[in-house]
Amino acid sequence: MTKIGIIGGSGLDNPDLMQDAHDVEVETSYGSPSAPLKMGTIAGKNVVLLARHGREHTIPPTFVNYRANIQALKDAGCTLILATTACGSLRAEIDRGHLVILDQFIDFTRRRPVSFYEEFEPHGAVHTGMADPFDKTLRGVFNQACDSLDLTHHKAGTVITIEGSRFSTRAESNMFRMWGADVINMSVAPECILANEAGIPYAAVAMSTDYDCWKTDEAPVTWEEILEVFQGNVEKVTSLLVEAIKNID
Ligand code: ADE
Repeated sequence: MTKIGIIGGSGLDNPDLMQDAHDVEVETSYGSPSAPLKMGTIAGKNVVLLARHGREHTIPPTFVNYRANIQALKDAGCTLILATTACGSLRAEIDRGHLVILDQFIDFTRRRPVSFYEEFEPHGAVHTGMADPFDKTLRGVFNQACDSLDLTHHKAGTVITIEGSRFSTRAESNMFRMWGADVINMSVAPECILANEAGIPYAAVAMSTDYDCWKTDEAPVTWEEILEVFQGNVEKVTSLLVEAIKNID
C-alpha cells in the first residue's frame, strides 16, 4: 500500500497540511531522526511528514542525520518520498519564487555520511547506480501538478549541494555555473543518495529564494532573504504537495 514520506526543508519545518495528524517518536539503527514523525492523511492517502532540520529549525545541514531520517521513513513503511528544499538560483531565468523539479545533483558535500554501507558483507559489495537519481514518475507527478496549478516552474534542473553552513564565495558560485548546476542548496544530495540506497523512489521540488552571489547587480544571499522569500511563496509548495499527493496512485 502506498505510504508517502514528505521531508520538509527550510521554511516548511512544521506545516499544517494533514488530517488526523499525530506524532510518533522513533529511533532507528542510525540514531534519532531530526524530529518526531507526523503521521496522518492528505487527500485520503497515508502520509508521514518529517522536518529535515527539526521542528524549530535547530539542526544545521551538516549535522542532519540523513541516514536516520531515511531509515525512519523506511521503517514507517513509506513507499516513496517527496522532499522540499529552498535553493539559490544559478541561472538568470530561474527567478525568486520559481519551482524547479530537480533531475540531477552534484554532490559537493565533504563531511557527512553519504552511504548506509560502512562495511560490505564478504563478497557482497554494494555500489548503487546514481545516473538518474530522482524518480521519473514522481517528477512527472510534480510537473503535472505545477501545470494544473499554473505555478511557474522548471521541469528539470541540476542542484549542487554544498556543505554549508556558510554560503559560497563568488569564485565558487561562478564555478558551479560553469559546471552546469542550475540551483544550489545544502541538503538534497546525501538525502537523495540514501533514498536510492534504501530503494525508495525520491523526488524533490526546489523553490528558488535568491541568486546566491554570482549576479553582480544583486546583493549576495542572506539567510534572512531565504526565509522571507520562502515564507512569501510557501503556499506554492504546500499546494503543490497536496495536488501531487492527490494524483499519486
Ligand atoms: N539555499 C537557499 N539558497 C541557497 C544558497 N544561495 N546557497 C546554498 N543553499 C541555499
